[in-house]
Amino acid sequence: MLEEQFILKTHSDSTEKGAFTWSSPSNIALIKYWGKKEDQIPENPSISFTLDACKTTTTLSYSKKESSNLFSFEVIFEGKKHDDFKPKIETFFRRIEVYVPFLKEYHFIIETSNTFPHSSGIASSASGMSALALCIMSIEKALNPEITESYFNQKASFLARLGSGSACRSIEGDLIVWGNHKHIEGSSDLFGVKYPFKVHNHFKNYHDTILLVDKGEKQVSSTVGHNLMHNHDFAQQRFIQANKNMTTLIEVLKTGDLNTFIELIESEALTLHAMMMTSRPYFILMKPNTLKIINAIWAFRKQSGLHISFTLDAGANVHVLYPENEAEQCIEFIQNELVAYCQNGHYICDRIGFGAKQL
Ligand code: PMV
Repeated sequence: MLEEQFILKTHSDSTEKGAFTWSSPSNIALIKYWGKKEDQIPENPSISFTLDACKTTTTLSYSKKESSNLFSFEVIFEGKKHDDFKPKIETFFRRIEVYVPFLKEYHFIIETSNTFPHSSGIASSASGMSALALCIMSIEKALNPEITESYFNQKASFLARLGSGSACRSIEGDLIVWGNHKHIEGSSDLFGVKYPFKVHNHFKNYHDTILLVDKGEKQVSSTVGHNLMHNHDFAQQRFIQANKNMTTLIEVLKTGDLNTFIELIESEALTLHAMMMTSRPYFILMKPNTLKIINAIWAFRKQSGLHISFTLDAGANVHVLYPENEAEQCIEFIQNELVAYCQNGHYICDRIGFGAKQL
């Protein structure tokens, strides 16, 4: 599918005003996206678990306005006017306007809230941008009721990508691939697709406990981090590696080989941070407690024989991953040994989820 196919050209119906609400989840990548070309095109394919508990709920109210030469919107975050979000949303609107040309015809009120605590260090851009993209698609559907559910989801993912790359993996569940991969038919750099192959029962209902090690603002944004992959000494090798890891993961997801799964995803997490540490300028997002948690997980895994593992986002927080049938022992270990490393003892119990919902 080409970009042009996402341009809304004509529509039969009209809508003066209304409101749509979507609740959209965050996601955690197993194979990481780090490095992009122009227009949010990823340098390598990535795959993520859609989460269930970490969500953004957004209501987009719209009313027709007189003149249509400027974007007009207000942002209300958790009940309060929030102008800080406006530049990011304005940039998003500018990027997507060609695909949804009705944006300047309306005044919008964007009311948004997260199920996870504000400034928890959990990126809200994936859930936030996907929820907004879905609300915009609901307006498109009101204007053009013939669009199919599959087109709706695909275009929502396409628009979300233009807001924040990884947001395109937050429309559906439970495993989403973004970025063209030679063995995954239908995979695309333009939008996320549902992982099309067999997934072993071991990966159903997989758990992700997010340990909030550092709730502060990141010192380096992911936009800056992605840009540092240009002219990075190891970039080309990393993109090749991500493609190879995806090929291995396809087999692992089919056979349920948890040991190889763990090796793969932990290596992906550490490689992501290794890329940061070897950029120019270099930076470190892990904190001392991130490393203490990783070492404690390794020691416990060795001693217990359980399949507990970790992955990392672009931050200090640790996502602790474990299968459903080992959940009880893993949660006990997390509570007894790992929560002490979290800022104010805060953590979030999440698991693999099935995508966004219209409310
Ligand atoms: O979507 P962005 O631009 O915030 O980049 C996110 C990149 C990682 O979270 C580090 C990896 C990923 O694939 O989600």
